[in-house]
Amino acid sequence: MTLLQAATAVRERAYAPYSRFKVGAAIRTKSGAVHVGCNVENVAYPEGTCAEAGAIAAMVAAGETEIAEVWVIADSPEPVPPCGGCRQKLAEFAAQDVVVTLCTTDGKQKAMTVADLLPGVFTAAHMDRA
Ligand code: THU
Repeated sequence: MTLLQAATAVRERAYAPYSRFKVGAAIRTKSGAVHVGCNVENVAYPEGTCAEAGAIAAMVAAGETEIAEVWVIADSPEPVPPCGGCRQKLAEFAAQDVVVTLCTTDGKQKAMTVADLLPGVFTAAHMDRA
């Protein structure tokens, strides 16, 4: 199964009764394992948890921390970019040159690197004088 297929499949499981906007994400780690996530909303916080954050949580829960590749899919007119919080979460576990491919359900694809998504990222090195 490709990462696009994995992201497409998990997107169907999204719990998005408030936005009705379903998102799926699939991460391949350096070990070759694939971890998936979908967005999960709730009534108090209707924005809920993003698909990317869900896939990252599944990866970490499985004992992995090194992202090699990410695919995200939604039914949008143009490929939907990850939110600001997810960009920082991706940058925590992915090198700057890791490719994140954003997709629409009707076949559009936009490949971006983690550096494209979050230029000037805050890193642990910025706290070196602390
Ligand atoms: N969402 C994601 O899961 N990933 C994105 O990249 C953009 C937005 C979700 C969060 C929320 O459930 C819904 O889309 C609308 O913001």
